[in-house]
Amino acid sequence: MRHLMSPLDFTVEELDKLFDLAGDIEKNPEKYAKKCDGKKLATCFYEPSTRTRLSFEAAMYNLGGHVIGFSDAGSSSASKGESVSDTIRMISCYADICAMRHPKEGAPMVASTKSRIPVINAGDGGHQHPTQTLTDLLTIRSLKGRLNNFTIGLCGDLKFGRTVHSLIHALVRYDNIQFIFISPDELRIPDYVTEMLQEKGISYKEVIRLEDVMEELDLLYMTRVQRERFFNEEDYVRLKDFYILNKEKMKLAKPDMLVLHPLPRVNEISVEVDEDERAVYFKQVQYGVYVRMALILTLLELV
Ligand code: NCD
Repeated sequence: MRHLMSPLDFTVEELDKLFDLAGDIEKNPEKYAKKCDGKKLATCFYEPSTRTRLSFEAAMYNLGGHVIGFSDAGSSSASKGESVSDTIRMISCYADICAMRHPKEGAPMVASTKSRIPVINAGDGGHQHPTQTLTDLLTIRSLKGRLNNFTIGLCGDLKFGRTVHSLIHALVRYDNIQFIFISPDELRIPDYVTEMLQEKGISYKEVIRLEDVMEELDLLYMTRVQRERFFNEEDYVRLKDFYILNKEKMKLAKPDMLVLHPLPRVNEISVEVDEDERAVYFKQVQYGVYVRMALILTLLELV
């Protein structure tokens, strides 16, 4: 039995297979409409979510399966003091696969050690968000036709943004990826990430102004300032509108540069950018459903 805790749990070859499967699902959805007949997905969300939880649920319904679960810790027995280990033992009796989001880093991993069903990490604190990364990779691969030879700019909250941490770890396995980290000083990418890049001899630079690097980018990954992980509101207010991608800045970019965002967006991308065909963050949401369908089928060994 396999779980998904980090994007590195799959080899590059396994990811290719998963993305091929997602591509086939996109083209032939009817072929998959009954694959999960009689199966249940449990969504255990101890932290707010719209996209990720609904995306998992839509994925399971698209496969003909059922969904049970809870969408906030307050309405689960966690509020009575139950541990994730006990909760997953119980969920193992009710469902065939579980997607878990938790504010504590490593909580889904702890759950997986006690689970009798595959557990998918749907985001653990500021740590990892592997299914968002699968979504990001599938989007890039589908729209660009490759996952190598890119300069990617990651912009915004690089300190607390788990989607950023997961995506970097996944991208270093592909050839000739250059990273440009764009953040205010206070929200710089953590040292453990840059140390990993140095060890692997992967080139990166850190800058503060988005305008200074816009023309170099093949991909721009925008992120929201992660309010819920700040220690004080004052710092959040000071930093929240540090970046606002607008039409003017888009003029500096290559004609085929793609703008991605894991969403939710707050102010960091002006709505006027939505009309630009390089803005692909809503397409990304659709790819998220296909890749989660492929993941559920793979972990349930139904392919
Ligand atoms: C992200 C998350 O939860 O980390 N959202 C998502 O799952 N698409 C990004 C965010 O909340 O900023």
